[in-house]
Amino acid sequence: MNPAHQTEDYVRIFDTTLRDGEQSPGATMNVEEKLAIARQLERLNVDVIEAGFAASSPGDFDSIQRTAQTISGPVVLSLARTRELDIDQALSAVEKAPRPGIHIFIATSDIHLKHKLNMTREDVLDAATWAVMRAKQHLDYIEFSAEDASRSDWGFLATICSEAIRAGANIINLPDTTGYAIPEEYGRMFAYMRQHVQNADKVIWSAHCHNDLGMAVANSLAAIQNGARQIECTINGIGERAGNTSLEEVVMALRTRKDLLGIESRVNTRQIYSASRLLSQVIGQPVPPNKPIVGDNAFAHEAGIHQDGVLKYKQTYEIMQPEDIGIPSNKLVLGKHSGRHAFISRLNELGLDTTAIDVNKAFGEFKALCDKKKVVYDDDILALVQEETRHLADWFELADLRVTSAVGIAPQAEVTMRVNKESRTAKSTGDGIVDASYKAILKIAGIAPVLERYSVKSITGGTDALGEVSCLVRHDGMTVSGQGAHSDIVMASALALVNALNRLKLRTHHAPEAAATGS
Ligand code: KIV
Ligand code: ZN
Repeated sequence: MNPAHQTEDYVRIFDTTLRDGEQSPGATMNVEEKLAIARQLERLNVDVIEAGFAASSPGDFDSIQRTAQTISGPVVLSLARTRELDIDQALSAVEKAPRPGIHIFIATSDIHLKHKLNMTREDVLDAATWAVMRAKQHLDYIEFSAEDASRSDWGFLATICSEAIRAGANIINLPDTTGYAIPEEYGRMFAYMRQHVQNADKVIWSAHCHNDLGMAVANSLAAIQNGARQIECTINGIGERAGNTSLEEVVMALRTRKDLLGIESRVNTRQIYSASRLLSQVIGQPVPPNKPIVGDNAFAHEAGIHQDGVLKYKQTYEIMQPEDIGIPSNKLVLGKHSGRHAFISRLNELGLDTTAIDVNKAFGEFKALCDKKKVVYDDDILALVQEETRHLADWFELADLRVTSAVGIAPQAEVTMRVNKESRTAKSTGDGIVDASYKAILKIAGIAPVLERYSVKSITGGTDALGEVSCLVRHDGMTVSGQGAHSDIVMASALALVNALNRLKLRTHHAPEAAATGS
C-alpha cells in the first residue's frame, strides 16, 4: 500500500519547524534543543517531522539522525535537492527511523529556472525524475516538491508532477515559496493539478505556504477545500522571512470550522500551548501577545461587556476553549497550598526541562512568591526559573574588542571580557580577524571547544546591514548554539561565541555530574 495513504480522510500535519522554521533569523537550534522540540511534536501527534536538510551541514545531518533514532510515531524525513550527494545523505540520516522518508525538491517556475538554476524545463524534469527514482530504490516514502509552484506554468507543473508520481513519489507538494498566492488562486491550482496530473488520485496533495502577505493559513485552507490532504507548517509560524503557515492556527481553524471544512487533523490540540512555549524558550523569541491561539491575549477578555458576556455564557465571545489548546483556564497555575509535585508537573507542561533546573531551589522561591502574590501565573514561573540561573547567563560578557588587519601581517585581536564580573584581556592572531577574536575569547574562557558551525546572515540590506551570526560549539559532549547581532560582523561573531559560552556554562552547571560535585 502507498505508505502515505490511509483510507481514513484527515489532514496530515507535516511539521517543518526544525527545517524551514530554523531558517528564520535567530532561530538556530542545537541538537539537544531540536530533540526536545521533536519529542514535543510527537506528543502533539503530528504525522510528519521534517528534521532538517542533511546535506546542508554535519550538524543538520547529526540532528536528523538523532531525531530518526528518537522518534517512533511520526514519519521522520530530511530535505534533499535532486543531487546524488543530497539524496544519499538524506537517506543515510533517516535510515534508523522506524518510519523514514525523504523530501526531494526542485524549482519549477521559469523565474527560478532562468535566474537561479540556469536549467531548461527538460533539465528540471530529468533531474526530478532521476532523483525520485534513485531514492525509490531505497525508500518507499517519497515527497516531491515543486518549489515556487504558485508562480510556475500550470502545464509544466502538471507534467513534472505526473513524472514524479510515475517515478515513485507518494506525496506531491505545491509550495507557495514566496508567499505570493491568494487563497482562491492557490486553491484553484490544486483543483487543476488533481484534474490534469496522471494518477493524481494515487498520491497525497500537500500545501506549503509562506506568510509574506499574511495569507499562509488562508491559502493552506483553500488547498484543503480543493483536495489537499497535507499541510506543511511550523510552531508559532516561524520560518523564512515572514514565516510559514502556523501549525496552531491551521489546526484550530480545521477544528473550529469543521462545520464548513468537513475535515480535521489528528493533532492533540492540548499539547499546542506547551509546544509554543517550548519553542519560544528555546529560540529566545517571545510569542507576540496578539498572536492567534497562543498569544497571551488570545483568550483575555478586557472589555466589560465581553467579560460580562463570557461569564454568562462562554460562547458569546469565545469560539474555542483555552483548555482545548492546553492553556489552563485563566492561566492561574498554582497557589501557596500547591505541592512540589504540582509545581514540577507545571514546569513540564510549560515545556521546561526539569532535569536542567534546580527544582528544589525553584520550588522554594515559588513558595516565597506565593506569599507575596495572590496569584502566580505561568510567566511568573518562567521568570522565576530564569532568575534561578540568571547569574550564569551572563557569566561571560564582552567588554571590548579591537582588531587589526593589514596586508602582509597576521590579523590580530585584543579582547577584554568580564568573567563573572572580573575583567580579563587576551590577544591572539588568527586566519582572519574573526578567527583571531575567537582565539582570544577562548583564551580568556580557558576552554577549547570545537566550533561545529558558524553562519552569518544579513538581517537588513546595505553595507551597514545588521548581521546575525549563529555558531554551534561542542565541548565535553555538550553542544550549544550562540547568536549575536551587530552592524559589525566581527562584533556579531564575538557576541555569538560569548552567548554560546554562557549557554555552555549554564549546561555544565545543570549537568548531573556538575551538580553532584557541587561545581
Ligand atoms: O518554500 C519552499 O518552497 C520550501 C521547499 C523546499 C519545500 O521550503
Ligand atoms: Zn518553505
